[in-house]
Amino acid sequence: MNILILGAGGREHTFAWKIAQSPLCKALFVAPGNSGTASIATNLAISVTDFEGIKKQVLAHSINMVVVGPEDPLVNGIYDFFLEDSDLQHVAVIGPQKAAAQLEGSKEFAKKFLFRHNIPTAAYESFTKANLEAGYAFLGTLKPPYVLKADGLAAGKGVLIISDIKEAKQELKNMLVDSKFGAASTKVVIEEFLDGIELSCFVLTDGKHYKLLPTAKDYKRIGEGDTGLNTGGMGAISPVPFADAVLLKKIEDRIVKPTVEGLITDQLPYKGFIFIGLIVVDNEPMVIEYNVRMGDPETEAVLPRLKTDLVEIFQAIDQQCLNEIDIEIDPKTAVTVMLVSGGYPEAYEKGKEITGFESIENSIVFHAGADRKEGKVVTSGGRVMAVTSFGADIKSALNTSYESIKHIKFENMNFRKDIGFDL
Ligand code: AMP
Ligand code: GLY
Repeated sequence: MNILILGAGGREHTFAWKIAQSPLCKALFVAPGNSGTASIATNLAISVTDFEGIKKQVLAHSINMVVVGPEDPLVNGIYDFFLEDSDLQHVAVIGPQKAAAQLEGSKEFAKKFLFRHNIPTAAYESFTKANLEAGYAFLGTLKPPYVLKADGLAAGKGVLIISDIKEAKQELKNMLVDSKFGAASTKVVIEEFLDGIELSCFVLTDGKHYKLLPTAKDYKRIGEGDTGLNTGGMGAISPVPFADAVLLKKIEDRIVKPTVEGLITDQLPYKGFIFIGLIVVDNEPMVIEYNVRMGDPETEAVLPRLKTDLVEIFQAIDQQCLNEIDIEIDPKTAVTVMLVSGGYPEAYEKGKEITGFESIENSIVFHAGADRKEGKVVTSGGRVMAVTSFGADIKSALNTSYESIKHIKFENMNFRKDIGFDL
């Protein structure tokens, strides 16, 4: 079949790398893609939210399946757009419909879903500028630090964790009254702070059945020792060593099953990945967020461990027979280390030539913010390349990635040398 992947990051290069290995894939397209996807697929210069442009390409290239990487098109209803168009109805879309994508598109929607289905999560209340005073009062009932979340999509920046109550009140006002995160902070969820260790769990669902993918942990801060500003993710490890059989069973029984059953009960059609962000407090897993897609850079550590044909899995998801598929996972540890532009996540320069990545043999190099220009591969974003390696344990996998990185060069290249330091 002909497959189109939407997106342009390391996650989408990883999808393309995996899908290109499938005998079921005849032609592979990525929109808009990057220099990595260009070497194994055909890049199409369209934006992931240009639904009419996507439609034209889907028809022009007889695409049978669309795999959606980022959340924006899902929250904006790309699945529904396909269903409502008689020319596109036959195309399989991997992702949730718009109503279900609200699990990521609205923090309040997710909290209501969690409470309705008795899934463990932090206590919360939500506020608009009409009840700002009530928001201040609610903050007064909580212990610090205070967790403020913009309800809508804010490119991963909409969560503030603040230790001082005066500052928390000021930020609440900034979000609600002064539109700190634009329309995304018209409503704010204030949440109890959960003190514990984080991990992410990934689930595939066809809307009736589910399969678990490996767990992963990502490293969001720019600085070593988890310090400095938040980024999209500086590296990831899979599996998470503290996620033993006992914890995994709790996660499946108390969180994954009720989530998939909740989607069915609430009639939220979903055929894709569910990314569940968890915090483990005193050995009890609690949900901090849902994402309706795979994580980036978690994908770069999770997907290489999947031995099963991904296209076969996607077909089963589309036909709602995921229960008939066996998911085979490589027991080895996979790690990925992100190479970023100097200055990121603040201002940085683009267009720097990248060399040395082509000769790497012991790791897989996934391109993220990298593009082809006049015969060269140059930086085009903050997160530039993810270097993934396997190992018998975290340490040996990391050693391999760090050895490989020695060969890759671009001006002002930066990366964290301590991925996995806390495990
Ligand atoms: P999110 O954008 O929802 O992924 O949240 C960003 C980060 O904020 C998470 O990765 C957590 O580290 C942290 N966080 C979110 N909610 C809570 C909470 N209730 N308690 C403690 N930390 C939280
Ligand atoms: N790495 C976190 C995310 O993809 O949201």
